[in-house]
Amino acid sequence: MALQWWQRAVFYQIYPRSFADSNGDGIGDLDGVTAHLDYVESLGIDAIWLNPINPSQLDDWGYDVSDYCGIHPDLGDLAAFDRLLAEAHRREIRVIVDLVPNHTSNQHPWFIESRASRTNPKRDWYIWVPGSPERAPNNWVSNFGGPAWQYDADTQAWYLHTFLVQQPDLNFRNPEVVEAMHGVIRFWLERGADGYRIDVVANMIKDAQLRDNPLRTEPNPDIPSRRPGELNPLYSTDQPEVHDIIRGFRRVSDSYENRILVGETWPREQERLADYLRPDELQLAFNFRFLLARYEASRFRAAIELTEKSFGAGAWPTWTLSNHDFSRHISRYSRDGDGDARARVAAVMLLTLRGSPFIYYGEEIGMRDAAIPAGSKRDPVGRDGCRSPMQWSDARNGGFSTSDKTWLPCGDFKTVNVARQLNDPHSMLALHRRLIQLRKSTPALVEGSYREFDRAPEDCLVFHRDTPAQHIVVALNFTAEPREIALPEGKILLSTVSRSANLTKSPLTLAPNEAVIMILDA
Ligand code: GLC
Repeated sequence: MALQWWQRAVFYQIYPRSFADSNGDGIGDLDGVTAHLDYVESLGIDAIWLNPINPSQLDDWGYDVSDYCGIHPDLGDLAAFDRLLAEAHRREIRVIVDLVPNHTSNQHPWFIESRASRTNPKRDWYIWVPGSPERAPNNWVSNFGGPAWQYDADTQAWYLHTFLVQQPDLNFRNPEVVEAMHGVIRFWLERGADGYRIDVVANMIKDAQLRDNPLRTEPNPDIPSRRPGELNPLYSTDQPEVHDIIRGFRRVSDSYENRILVGETWPREQERLADYLRPDELQLAFNFRFLLARYEASRFRAAIELTEKSFGAGAWPTWTLSNHDFSRHISRYSRDGDGDARARVAAVMLLTLRGSPFIYYGEEIGMRDAAIPAGSKRDPVGRDGCRSPMQWSDARNGGFSTSDKTWLPCGDFKTVNVARQLNDPHSMLALHRRLIQLRKSTPALVEGSYREFDRAPEDCLVFHRDTPAQHIVVALNFTAEPREIALPEGKILLSTVSRSANLTKSPLTLAPNEAVIMILDA
């Protein structure tokens, strides 16, 4: 079957507060994004995902929505959104927006009503349990630490918050909530958005009896900081009923043409990810194994094998190295090695695996986490470093803003910036452009099957991407030493280091931290 646009697409995640400031207030905004769409287009990006743009109290920087159908005034207004959409579409770039259905802000009018009294018509829109202040309804913990329940003295009841106290969870067992969220979905699709990235989609529905979560006995590599002795979220996430809710969202999305739903999916085990990727559920779901993986061939190999094995024919993978919730991979990789060289290898892997790659803004120039002095911290759980302003040039504030002060401190823009890399054929930016171009002009890299080459050294990852007409090999050396790979001769299409010749001898010798893409004779 011919691939859909979202299977061919290279996605680019934009954190709107940090991409470009068009009005000099130190905060990035929608017009700033629009002004840089030529840059996005020149990279070869097919679709952008915007982190939340709705009005919010900014307790969780947009993930505490107080109006699902508006734009946060810091970022612009609906007209600015329409301009962004029109300009993106003119360049054939699709626009995905963030949908945060699991919870609202405690300042959302729905919650203000809901907490007003036990008999308010919106009371049951959130998860309330009457009780006394001494004893929470169960042992669930918030993903941001501490108990997941907050006591409301006025109505003598607890409400559930999977994240901050200011982010009460909606009750998706109430059909009115489901209907309201369908309305939200229609709102942005009607305006022309191409789909949604859905926040913590597996969390949307909880055990009907709110049973205690059991203690974890084994570590879980799929969920950060879930160690033995901590709770296993058996009853608070990834419940069977969540699939009905997703199917409902999909029906709404499918009533428009060519739209997609991408889930931020933390199933309890990675094997369960494929359960969310069905013809009547999500088209795509994030796979966080790479985000959590050390720079080791074995870690990536395990993530890929698990995906290839558990997905089957119906589900299409996605790959992500960085996002707004975790330290950037180049910073992670720099802790015990050559971050720049390693990030190049990772870029080749990201853009040549079977599946849709997501690039986090700045990743293409090798932007690192910014240092955030104590007085400049914004995020309650310490994720500011990876959200610093985009580094456009070595001008003031890295060309991000003309303001005296930016909302978050800028990073190392004097050395790492777009302007400097634009004309340097060896830059990280040039590598990304070449990779994306190569991907688009090489059918096997998009449509081809995936097969690991099983005679490579353990600390390298080598794989085939094949169509009947084209045989591509990708060889990645994750070590700081040369490695020999018993491959037949071929022609090198791309390497992350300079090579004297394009034709390889057999075996292929890879330089330390070298990645190559080669084509074998058909
Ligand atoms: C998701 C978002 C994260 C947010 C959380 C709560 O994990 O990516 O930024 O804090 O959900 O909405």
